[in-house]
Amino acid sequence: METETGADRGEVVLRLVPHLTDINANGHIFGGWVLSQMDIAGGIVAARIAQGAVATVAIESMTFITPILLGDVVSVYATEERRGRTSVAIRIDVVATRGIGMEEVVLTSGVYTFVALDAQHRPRPLPVV
Ligand SMILES: CC(C)(COP(=O)(O)OP(=O)(O)OC[C@H]1O[C@@H](n2cnc3c(N)ncnc32)[C@H](O)[C@@H]1OP(=O)(O)O)[C@@H](O)C(=O)NCCC(=O)NCCS
Repeated sequence: METETGADRGEVVLRLVPHLTDINANGHIFGGWVLSQMDIAGGIVAARIAQGAVATVAIESMTFITPILLGDVVSVYATEERRGRTSVAIRIDVVATRGIGMEEVVLTSGVYTFVALDAQHRPRPLPVV
């Protein structure tokens, strides 16, 4: 599936249904909830690329495009954007299917950077592909 700019969104890493306890005072889902799901999904893809442990070192960009509503079925897409010596940037797009017609709504988009870790929790070179 493609983003608005025509880039490939990658694979659906997580599919979730927010709970009542995830709602803020506006009736929307907490921003922190979606940040957390994006971190989990990006970490899964980054760990696969790193073939081992990774840590989130930075959220390079993050845009909340549309509020998440109770009843949305939320899909978290993630794909490699670029890789360095020990780090990999993962683009993460969050999309909901909403309502009877299962309308697709783009919710958030961001780029998270993960660093491959060695046994001492220090940066480790990514495997050569
Ligand atoms: C991740 C960590 C081990 C990196 O250690 P460090 O001493 O900063 O490592 P380096 O300076 O060698 O940088 C390692 C890589 O991260 C990249 N990096 C560091 N800071 C960055 C930032 N703010 N934005 C993007 N990339 C960054 C570097 O460019 C480098 O990438 P490269 O090797 O591909 O060129 C350390 O910062 C850490 O433990 N942070 C806490 C992680 C954490 O607890 N995350 C939350 C829970 S997972």
